[in-house]
Amino acid sequence: MVRQLQSVFILGGYGNTGRLMARLFLTNTPVRVIIAGRNIHSVVQFQRQLQQDYSGDRVGVMSVDAADESGVAQALAGVDLLVVASSTTDQAATIARAALQAGCDYLDINLGSDKLRQLRAMENEIQATGRCFVTEGGFHPGLPAAMIRTAAEKMDRLEAAIVGSVIGIDWAKLTFSPATLTEFVQELMDYQSLEWVNGHWQKMRWNQAVRKVDFGGDFGIRSVYPMWLPELEPLPQSIPSLREAGFYVGGFNPVVDYFLLPLLWMALKIAPQRLSNPAGRLFLWGLQRYSKPPFGTVLLLQAVGKKADEPARFHLRLEHEDGYFLTAAGAVATALQILNGTRRKPGLWLQGNFVDTDRLWMDLKTMGVAVSASNAIDRN
Ligand SMILES: NC(=O)c1ccc[n+]([C@@H]2O[C@H](COP(=O)([O-])OP(=O)(O)OC[C@H]3O[C@@H](n4cnc5c(N)ncnc54)[C@H](OP(=O)(O)O)[C@@H]3O)[C@@H](O)[C@H]2O)c1
Repeated sequence: MVRQLQSVFILGGYGNTGRLMARLFLTNTPVRVIIAGRNIHSVVQFQRQLQQDYSGDRVGVMSVDAADESGVAQALAGVDLLVVASSTTDQAATIARAALQAGCDYLDINLGSDKLRQLRAMENEIQATGRCFVTEGGFHPGLPAAMIRTAAEKMDRLEAAIVGSVIGIDWAKLTFSPATLTEFVQELMDYQSLEWVNGHWQKMRWNQAVRKVDFGGDFGIRSVYPMWLPELEPLPQSIPSLREAGFYVGGFNPVVDYFLLPLLWMALKIAPQRLSNPAGRLFLWGLQRYSKPPFGTVLLLQAVGKKADEPARFHLRLEHEDGYFLTAAGAVATALQILNGTRRKPGLWLQGNFVDTDRLWMDLKTMGVAVSASNAIDRN
């Protein structure tokens, strides 16, 4: 059980994801929440809103810059879990060292190969100090590998597991820290279209890689493309029967996909440092100006394999109207398993490979995510 005396420190606590996480912690647990970021006015303003909505003295504030290791370590004194909801992938090692210094557990929702390298370089130290560090939390990364692990549990032999996504966000309603826009651009440059095909991670030709997925509801049939996530990497080893697997995303909107992205990609190849800020702003402009309804986020797992020697299928579908809510809920549901000790163990873990999946789907449902699963055995 998560205890009343436990405290969770949310770095980036007034950002788009951080503020949803703060509310989910306050609604679903008795913990104390500390909202942190560089801007003291934003921190205090959000604290006031939360104090109006939640009774008891459960919301603290801190003004910290992730780049200041000793400042972050001091701010973390007495904290049980640090949640990194800030766009601070460049400072991952600094933040992680501060957490180790303060002796607290760690969960981040960031993506990026450089961040993972920074944390993996500290893996032995994390293990030796007995801390539990979970990275790549949220929804993507965070949920696709967990969905595939669930399919493997439902079948005797899982052969193919494809997770498709619709990420329809009303970007015009959102504002971002400049650091987040720079990260968007880094993520685009990091994109890899690998999928697991016939026993190898492969980059297929574009026309072979594209898949049509029926997401149902308002979204219907959509084309999606592979997006490699580090959490997928261990799956073929833990599920040896798997011959086909991957995570697939749709585009943003035609102007961004066919005009802006190729342009930004070329510009960033030429001058990555100088152009990353303007590229981030231009990318956001394209998202805000041209993204159209229906808005909403769906993750759909389609798996095939064998159950009791019969061909079998399993589908798992997650939906929420707000993609940022799904990110926040995925991370908070994982945080609960660290705080209540059921999953907590020393080391560095990726959320998609770490989390107890049955409990995760239950907690997501409780938080308001539509979760549905269906099994079928194909009998001729
Ligand atoms: N895993 C997933 O499914 C998923 C989904 C969506 C987003 N994300 C990731 O989540 C992160 C946050 O995204 P968002 O949309 O919530 O961003 P956002 O709304 O722009 O919020 C970012 C927050 O980070 C804070 N911040 C930035 N630099 C900081 C620093 N040096 N020290 C302390 N705080 C700092 C910002 O405050 P100040 O600038 O005022 O300090 C702000 O509160 C990004 O890394 C994004 O890639 C992950």
